Amino acid sequence: MEHGPGEHNLPGRHESFWIETTPETSYPSLPGNLETDVTVVGGGITGITTAVLLKRAGYAVTVIEAGRVCHGVTGHTTAKVTSLHRLIYAELIDRFGSRQAQQYAEANQAAIETIASNVREYDIPCSFERKPAYTYAETEGSRDPVAAEADAARSLGLPAAFTEDVPLSARNYGAVVLENQAQFHPLKYLLYLASLIPGDASQIYEKTRALEVQEGGGRCTVRTALGTVTSRAVVLATHYPFYDSPGFYFARMEPSRSYALGVRLDEPFPNGMFINADGPAHSWRSQPAGDGGELVIVSGMEHRTGEDVDTREHYRSLEAYARSVYPLRSIDYRWSAQDYITIDGVPYIGPLASGHENIYIATGFRKWGMTNGTAAATIITDMVRGRASPWAEVYAPDRFKPAAAVRRFLVHNIDVAEKYIGGAISRPAGDLADVRPGEGRILMLEGKKAGVFRDREGRVHAVNPTCAHLGCVVAWNSAEETWDCPCHGSRYDADGKVIHGPAVKDLKPRGG
Ligand code: FES
Repeated sequence: MEHGPGEHNLPGRHESFWIETTPETSYPSLPGNLETDVTVVGGGITGITTAVLLKRAGYAVTVIEAGRVCHGVTGHTTAKVTSLHRLIYAELIDRFGSRQAQQYAEANQAAIETIASNVREYDIPCSFERKPAYTYAETEGSRDPVAAEADAARSLGLPAAFTEDVPLSARNYGAVVLENQAQFHPLKYLLYLASLIPGDASQIYEKTRALEVQEGGGRCTVRTALGTVTSRAVVLATHYPFYDSPGFYFARMEPSRSYALGVRLDEPFPNGMFINADGPAHSWRSQPAGDGGELVIVSGMEHRTGEDVDTREHYRSLEAYARSVYPLRSIDYRWSAQDYITIDGVPYIGPLASGHENIYIATGFRKWGMTNGTAAATIITDMVRGRASPWAEVYAPDRFKPAAAVRRFLVHNIDVAEKYIGGAISRPAGDLADVRPGEGRILMLEGKKAGVFRDREGRVHAVNPTCAHLGCVVAWNSAEETWDCPCHGSRYDADGKVIHGPAVKDLKPRGG
């Protein structure tokens, strides 16, 4: 869906810079039933990297992707390759202890080196550059937590320091800086890695949506509309595990959306990648634009998916914030992304659940998917090979910390689910005649609740707004023109076609 600035009054082309500057792939769809050693569901950074590592280890790997490789969450990242995840290390030490905090730090540092060594080994032209990463205190109140983060990160062996010298123009009160981090063009990197997968009994199948996983006799069968893939092990690298019931992941994560603008400045962007420490995220990095110029990606303004607000306001706030820091010569791109945040902020990577040891998941990257996704690929590859991973413990999906934060999260989750399933948030409002071109809303249609969108030609698109996953009521996302589910983040286009799981089925149509 592309919109000019006039249609939404939003700036920039509605497209990810990464997707626009790489060719679309054309891998075949699943031709029927087949057998393989390992099935990888999902063709983003986790799935592609896992498949490459397993193939290198001698396995026949089959990747199935519902859409096109890297056009989902990975295609909408900011692609910072860093272990500095805003403020996390002081919290990790407090919650998990130094040993597990160190596992997290080491897994992410190793992921940077995995990406660097792939770029070097295959000579991948993906503008990989080493950069320092900064988390800056935007208010005086966050100066102490930032200084504490520098101490915590350094205590774990990371190359961290507190500095007053932050080259970004944003007002700040110092920052924690981590040296020798990196940035790159994620799709140029991953499409090259993907090209290594087909051959020697391995393959990628696109436009092949996984619908369910069946287990029995030491084998796992992934069923799709086009056939089945049977293997000894399955890796669910679908961002949110669509087969989630055994692990109750739907109650242990929340979906979150954030926004990005690709802008041009009149001055060179400073050397580094930057993010603020508190409040709505403000994140900055630069990227060679391919025309000799430089694109600056400013992102943030996260909120829970499906919140009943006008999501266009998040792009507008981001633009206002960017203009408060630098005069903008132009705004060339805008796009948004979705991620999941776990109860304790650490991803779930490992076996799905007790009794389901041949199904692996990797999810909940808290917006730090480049390194956590690469770390997940390494950890899961070790597990499939029957090797111990030095970082498995901190990421273990079955960890349980009876901390107050966990209890708060669960109470919040139950409360939110009740409201959303009952539709208390997305209340029907108005009549069909009130819906203007370009607008979507929930209303009553012939006595039944309906999600109605009127397109710019005046045609009405009406769906049953009951999410196909677990039955919450979806909400209209005005910036992306999608129906988004507030419970677990499923997303559908205006006609109800699923574009992001965990739902695997479309919304049903409503007459209108
Ligand atoms: Fe779970 Fe909608 S995504 S109910």
